[in-house]
Amino acid sequence: MINLVHLEPRAREIIALYEYPKAAMLPLLWLVQENEGYVSCKAEAWVARMLGVALARVREVVSFYNMFHTQPVGRRELRVCTSLPCVLRGSGELMRRIQRELKIAPGETTPGGEVTLTEVECLCACEMAPMAQLDERFVGPVQLDAASEGATVATLVQDARTAPGRLEATPDPEPYIYTEGPVLSSRLMDADGTWLEAYGDYAGARKALTSMKPGEVITEVSRANLRGLGGAGFPAGRKWSFIPKAVDKPVYLVVNADEGEPGTFKDRYIMERDPHMLLEGMLIAAYAIGSHKAYVYIRGEYFLSAQRLQRAIDEACAAGWLGKDIQGTGFDLEVVIHRGAGAYICGEETALLTSLEGGKGFPRLKPPFPAISGLFACPTIVNNVETLSCVPFILRNGAEHFAAIGTESQGGTRLFCVSGHVNRPGVYEVPVSVTLHELIGDFTGGVREGRALKAVIPGGISAKVLTADEIDVVMDFDSLRAAGSMAGSGGVIVMDEMTCMVEALESAARFFADESCGQCSPCREGTGWVHRIVRRITEGRGKPRDLDDLLAIAGDMEGKTICVFADAAAWPVQSYITKFRTEFEDFVAAGRRTPSAEVAQCRT
Ligand SMILES: Cc1cc2nc3c(=O)[nH]c(=O)nc-3n(C[C@H](O)[C@H](O)[C@H](O)COP(=O)(O)O)c2cc1C
Ligand code: SF4
Repeated sequence: MINLVHLEPRAREIIALYEYPKAAMLPLLWLVQENEGYVSCKAEAWVARMLGVALARVREVVSFYNMFHTQPVGRRELRVCTSLPCVLRGSGELMRRIQRELKIAPGETTPGGEVTLTEVECLCACEMAPMAQLDERFVGPVQLDAASEGATVATLVQDARTAPGRLEATPDPEPYIYTEGPVLSSRLMDADGTWLEAYGDYAGARKALTSMKPGEVITEVSRANLRGLGGAGFPAGRKWSFIPKAVDKPVYLVVNADEGEPGTFKDRYIMERDPHMLLEGMLIAAYAIGSHKAYVYIRGEYFLSAQRLQRAIDEACAAGWLGKDIQGTGFDLEVVIHRGAGAYICGEETALLTSLEGGKGFPRLKPPFPAISGLFACPTIVNNVETLSCVPFILRNGAEHFAAIGTESQGGTRLFCVSGHVNRPGVYEVPVSVTLHELIGDFTGGVREGRALKAVIPGGISAKVLTADEIDVVMDFDSLRAAGSMAGSGGVIVMDEMTCMVEALESAARFFADESCGQCSPCREGTGWVHRIVRRITEGRGKPRDLDDLLAIAGDMEGKTICVFADAAAWPVQSYITKFRTEFEDFVAAGRRTPSAEVAQCRT
């Protein structure tokens, strides 16, 4: 008989962090799962009672998020990423070998209850591809060639079977970080995190709080041409100016750290390795918009990010940079970390807010925009981790300096996340005036094994694919839009000449079918339909009319739904088929990969 009385004191502390008890839904479910191993029916009833909500409400939330288990699982969880960046580096073979070793299929647990194997969509550790997550720890790149050094399938399976206790998150021991700074990456090299002693004074925040009015801070950020780096590229200063001037409700700052776009992993680097840079940016933003409460919504799989950011918050509170009467200025700011639980759609800002309020991650219709009616129906600014992390530099060095680093319409640098078939996958901080050609050719060491480039996705999996002939494009938002794609989240996925574009599309289509929240028919039905057709083609059962059907379905998904997820799901279909039509036709006709793609299969 499950008895959760011992968790009640901790549950009450958690509930007290939120304005409304029901907002503590996800943290309480995490509390239960971390203590009991899974969320049983009895535990759901306990959560409902603690929060004063209907049991049905708890059940629907549990079923929405893929990290909550409703049945007991193995002592250790092995989650294998099967999204495109990992597929390109051999995750299919990785999964096959793990299954052979463990003698179980995805979704099953080994007979002794040791290991549960799960197939998951992007864990946003694409620089480690092919990779897996063992309990909390990211492991990768897993070497498929037994002679190579580093983690292998054998060591991964051995750890899964025998490591004592739960495996905690540790930083990637050998990340590739290229810094042409100076905005974001100067301290990212430190694998142990940059703690307050090394970070030093919050000089930008000190300047803002002691010598500037909130409106002056907004003007400074606007003049810097800082664009939102979560995907949409909306000017940050302009967004902040939308908060109503005279408002009788609390104003919230919400940090979008849900980082779920396949090909993107930069926010994790900031939170793990330079958390004070984010906190200082948050403090400046909160001061500018008049917010005294900020939430950081971190994706559930980012255990280390949450731990390190919490440590930094504690340090900042102790040093008087957070909390009441910050540095004697009279300004207060409380920061609460809120962990997601495995749902890509919660990265969409309104879905994130619904999730933060304790519900399923359902996007909401806009308008009203969050700046008018956001969290708990109060004015809210949602900004990405990287966006806010640029703000201290702007305040310290001046808007002109930041603006001058970038292009006319976008200031600064960006942390580009490069994955796929390059010699050095990793995080690259370079000015946004860099071209895609330069980024791949000059910085990443080029395409691996001297192969030719075939295609690049420049801004996360939702962005339209560019061919090798289209990469002489500047990487700012406006230039990539003019080139028919988008800068999006800065996730650059590189595909070499051997890549099979049909199989690449199958991976993208599966992702969107898995991650649709299901509210809108064109999205719910369209993503599933697209995936079924593309999968049928990859299985050799394609029909000549499939390609036109796919384009027609994709066309019907665009511009008709609550959020732009459906559009984002349509764009890969349209761009892959239009730009590589002959390859798709050949695949359908032959019922299999074209010869060049076959060679790739042999080599990976
Ligand atoms: C389907 C979808 C997923 C998104 N995922 C993320 C995400 O993981 N992280 C993020 O910062 N923004 C994401 N966004 C963009 C957010 O909705 C929003 O524009 C952003 O958080 C605003 O911050 P910014 O202005 O600083 O970019 C996503 C948007 C959509 C439509
Ligand atoms: S477009 Fe898709 S993800 Fe967005 S609200 Fe509609 S069903 Fe949900």
